[in-house]
Amino acid sequence: MTILTDPATVFRGRRLRRTPALRALVRETRLHPAMLVAPLFVRPGRGVREEIGSMPGQHRLSVDELPAAAGRLLDAGVRSVLLFGLPESKDADGSGAWADDGIVQQAIGALRGAVGDELAIIADVCLCEYTSHGHCGVLRGESVDNDATLSLLARTAPSLAAAGADVVAPSAMMDGQVAAIREVLPDTAILAYAAKHASAFYGPFREAADSAPAFGDRRTYQMDAANGREARSEILADLEEGADMIMIKPALPALDLVADARATIDVPLAAYQVSGEYAAICAAAERGWLDRRAAAMESLTAIARAGAGIIVTYFALEAAGWLNELDR
Ligand code: PBG
Repeated sequence: MTILTDPATVFRGRRLRRTPALRALVRETRLHPAMLVAPLFVRPGRGVREEIGSMPGQHRLSVDELPAAAGRLLDAGVRSVLLFGLPESKDADGSGAWADDGIVQQAIGALRGAVGDELAIIADVCLCEYTSHGHCGVLRGESVDNDATLSLLARTAPSLAAAGADVVAPSAMMDGQVAAIREVLPDTAILAYAAKHASAFYGPFREAADSAPAFGDRRTYQMDAANGREARSEILADLEEGADMIMIKPALPALDLVADARATIDVPLAAYQVSGEYAAICAAAERGWLDRRAAAMESLTAIARAGAGIIVTYFALEAAGWLNELDR
């Protein structure tokens, strides 16, 4: 009894919060640049560095600009990129996704040539950037045909692997997409976007990648954000189908799913701090309503604390720079 009221022995958290050095000593969660993945948008052209309106500080880069971008990331300690492509032209099937000289295939070749194995190259596998209608698969009438899409994803992933991708990351949310890719690609790592909610927070990305659906939305294939137990089923299905790593997306709005996945599965776990999470912090910071650095680092730390060992984030380069400074 006395122990609970005795000021000398009662829990007093402030004892360990007194100085920056003490706080650093007892910090439970540490971010490291090597856990960050930088998404990159690749577009046609030469010498193009086009800022994305909805994502200040992010650019669409032509292939020849990629080695310099990779160099900046590597200098900061970021060792992994996630590639998205804006093709020269689009069609109903999204054939640009698996073209031998497709935009991301070219990007992978240029990066590999410039930095060899220094960088882990992850290629997103989806059709939405390549289809004229903006959906993540092929249409039958107004609906996305799951199994017809699987065979196209199973062409796209090997083409990206042949170009030199280390990891393919299927994000189309078609049932059986991991199995379809695993069957044709036994030796390439798969990062499955396992639990991907139909989220309002992808808005800025769709401007960046020119991939907004021309009609309807993605709710018949992406998950209902209300469902956590279903997220677990999606994750288990992807692991059974042969995924090596799994991803939860978005990150902050789905932090409970990150924590649940960390507690229940043992493979590497990624969370994607998506475009809207990035844009919201940027916009509030521009207005002086949030401190950009503090808000970004608090969010990234929360994602790591919930259990993500890999964080895909548009802050990757900037955050790595902050991490390389002495933490106050
Ligand atoms: C492709 C894909 C999307 C994102 C990642 N891969 C768009 C979508 O599902 O609509 C979103 C990433 C972001 O918002 O940063 N399907």
